[in-house]
Amino acid sequence: MKHKIAPSLLAANFMNLQKEIEMINASEADWLHLDIMDGVFVPNISFGFPVIESLKNHCTKPLDVHLMIVEPQKFIPEVAACGAYMMNVHYEACIHLHRTVAAIKEAGMKAGVTLNPHTPIALLEDILCDLDMVLLMSVDPGYGGQHFIEHSVDKTARLKEMILRQGTDTLIEVDGGVNMETAKRLLEVGADVLVAGNFVFRADDPKQVIRDLKDL
Ligand code: DX5
Ligand code: ZN
Repeated sequence: MKHKIAPSLLAANFMNLQKEIEMINASEADWLHLDIMDGVFVPNISFGFPVIESLKNHCTKPLDVHLMIVEPQKFIPEVAACGAYMMNVHYEACIHLHRTVAAIKEAGMKAGVTLNPHTPIALLEDILCDLDMVLLMSVDPGYGGQHFIEHSVDKTARLKEMILRQGTDTLIEVDGGVNMETAKRLLEVGADVLVAGNFVFRADDPKQVIRDLKDL
């Protein structure tokens, strides 16, 4: 399967969201990545459901929603109502992860589980078979434009091994500090989906950058 690119709207120009969505629609992006932050789970607040509601009928790409919030299970109906394709919850924010994953699927979405950089992949051994995707954070979540944590390449490789060993079809998405150089190394070790915020939206020609990332 050809890898997917999911530009992160966090780095977009919010004064001109319509233009940014039109750029995404016209690009080779596979998904649009949406970062919801609550100022509790992460030390920052981004945007919430009204923003996603207002763009959902204009964006032609599947919505990949990344919830950096405590108690994400409380908002499954709201995320589903936003038309999300994938709902990603943090492992660190879920006590009853199996129940939450089942509820996400029940609501008609794909289920992704996100790991902070310091959270070992071994903690997913007993739930991997139920996951559509694992989202590996390659920066501490909360802000765009941070420096890529090198260890993420080795972590991606080990997660790929675990997926092959268990024979699941779980996707691996990596988020944070993705650029042409880190993207290449992540794809070599088995990443399926790459999130890119600043590298795409702050470029002179974002569509070309997306095309370049797709061509890797
Ligand atoms: C960080 C977010 C990321 C962020 C990535 O907490 O989860 O999705 O937008 O931004 P870049 O690609 O600029 O590191
Ligand atoms: Zn994200």
